[in-house]
Amino acid sequence: MSENLLENITKLLSVIINPQNGKTLKEEGRILEIKADQNELIFKYKRDGITPEQKKSIEASISNAVSQYYSHEKITVLTVSENSSDVFTGKTFSPAPVSAEKKVESAQIKTGHGPVGANKKRVQGAKKVIAVSSCKGGVGKSTVAVNLAFALKNLGKKVGLLDADIYGPSMPMLLNKRDAKPGATPDKKILPIDAYGIPFISFGLFINEKDPVIWRGPMLGGVLNQFLFDVAWEDLDYLIIDLPPGTGDMQLSMVQATDIDGAIVVSTPQDVAILDSKKGLNMFNQVKIPVLGMVENMSYFVPEDAPTKKYFIFGESGVRKAAGELNVELLSEIPLEMALREGSDKGLPYMNEKKYEGRPVWNAYMLLAKNIEKCFNGNESPEESKGFFKKLFS
Ligand SMILES: Nc1ncnc2c1ncn2[C@@H]1O[C@H](COP(=O)(O)OP(=O)(O)OP(=O)(O)O)[C@@H](O)[C@H]1O
Ligand SMILES: [Mg+2]
Repeated sequence: MSENLLENITKLLSVIINPQNGKTLKEEGRILEIKADQNELIFKYKRDGITPEQKKSIEASISNAVSQYYSHEKITVLTVSENSSDVFTGKTFSPAPVSAEKKVESAQIKTGHGPVGANKKRVQGAKKVIAVSSCKGGVGKSTVAVNLAFALKNLGKKVGLLDADIYGPSMPMLLNKRDAKPGATPDKKILPIDAYGIPFISFGLFINEKDPVIWRGPMLGGVLNQFLFDVAWEDLDYLIIDLPPGTGDMQLSMVQATDIDGAIVVSTPQDVAILDSKKGLNMFNQVKIPVLGMVENMSYFVPEDAPTKKYFIFGESGVRKAAGELNVELLSEIPLEMALREGSDKGLPYMNEKKYEGRPVWNAYMLLAKNIEKCFNGNESPEESKGFFKKLFS
């Protein structure tokens, strides 16, 4: 057994949280055994008082935490309870004889990289859950997530935002709530913070911005589940999740564990190597999440003093071409505008500022919101998109 591997796995598992009380299993002295080698992980813990629902959540956390090391079929979680006195007695666990081991309740984790659809969990309190993703960082994914939320709000929808980007959580800044500290409901659910009428939650509200990124990884397993499933969302029409950029194991684990109704892939015209986009689309196909379409961000620049001109700074229609080749929808082309960036830096979301109504960026976001609506409720296509968008899910 590699010492390093066991050490890493033990670190990752020591922050798994008991959803019942927010304490780690380690703090509660529940962890009985961790066996980890190249082929298999066995995790044994004391289950007393933990409900089946909470047990599932713990299993999903375990799976998420170690997903870079083990696929689901290589993880075995054994639980023991004090009631099975032949297996577990008092504070010391004595290795049980083979026959007694059978009495131990055991569960095979089905999340992680397991079969599609197994153990997918629904976020409570949201009718539709949309994931915003990108194959690369810095393409405007968070800007799109935030402004899409406000565009949908402008259409009269109730929308929430979940910043699941553990490595670069930006929503507290984008929404001017860097110092906000979320409270909890009596049943220990996290209360989202309200920003201009949009409830949101972000890793950034819990971590110290100065913490080195390396320490955040181990937090992920335990916290992620709370973020995805233990937030007290109320009657949302849409919950928009800002995923971490890329298509790695962590992203895959997140989208695999969560019942997501549709995904949006954001790209800029020059970043859109077909291969990259394909990777992004494949990730969602693999876990059977419908891709609603692609969004081209920073499509072109319209100078304020020459509003009829368009400058294709990053090349023309790259994403539209890629979407065509990959047979997915192009949901909108969002131009570059200084006010969008400036508003983001000040925590004043562009689409919450009525003074921008009618500007190209505004119209592009409203078109995006209408197309999202169209995906889910099948309304007639908005006039401006007729002949431009192919029929969704055709
Ligand atoms: N259409 C736009 N016009 C002008 N500036 C924009 C536009 N879209 C995004 N930006 C700016 O580009 C920068 C990157 O955007 P953002 O942080 O949303 O990207 P991201 O893909 O979420 O990045 P990361 O990978 O770091 O999470 C920000 O400064 C943002 O204000
Ligand atoms: Mg971001």
